[in-house]
Amino acid sequence: MPTTREVLDLTIALEKQSMALYASFAKLFAGDLKLHDFWFGMARDEARHVGALDLVSTVLELEGKLEQPSPVSLEDATIKRLEALHAGFGNRAKAGLSLEQALKIALEVEETELEDLVADLLKASNSDEYERCLRLLVHDLGELSYMIEHNAQDPDLLQRCDALVNRHAEELRKAARS
Ligand SMILES: [Fe+2]
Ligand SMILES: [Fe+2]
Repeated sequence: MPTTREVLDLTIALEKQSMALYASFAKLFAGDLKLHDFWFGMARDEARHVGALDLVSTVLELEGKLEQPSPVSLEDATIKRLEALHAGFGNRAKAGLSLEQALKIALEVEETELEDLVADLLKASNSDEYERCLRLLVHDLGELSYMIEHNAQDPDLLQRCDALVNRHAEELRKAARS
C-alpha cells in the first residue's frame, strides 16, 4: 500500500510531464499565435493541477498525514503504463509533427487515468481545489474538442474527445451538487 506522499509525488511528476509536453507543443506551433496560445493554455492548466497537488501535500504534511496509506489506490501496473506512455509522447513532440498528430497525442494523454487520479487526490483531501480543478478540466477538454473539430479530419477522434468532456462534466455536476 503506497503512502499518500508516494502517490502525490508520482502524480505531480506525471502532471509535470503533461505540462512539459504541452509547453513543447506551444513552442512547436509558435508560428501561429492562436495555436501557441491554445497549447500554452493547456500547459498552464497542468501547472495549476501541479500547484493544487503541491498545496494538498503541504497541508497534509502539516497535519502529519503524508506518511499514512494513500486514500487513493494506485497499482504498480498503472504507474508503469502511465510512465511509459508519457515517455513515448515526449519522443514524438518534434519538429514536423502535424497539428492533427499533436491533437491526437493530447487526447491520448487526457484519456489516461491521470486526471482521475488528480481529481481523486483533491477530493480525498476535502479541498475546494477539487471543483475548481474539474471546472478547468472540462473547459480545457472543450477547447481540445473545438480544435479537433476544426483541425482534424477524424470523426472518431472528435467523438472520443466529446465522450471525455461529457464524463468529466458529469463529475463536475455531481461535485457542484454535493
Ligand atoms: Fe492535469
Ligand atoms: Fe491533463
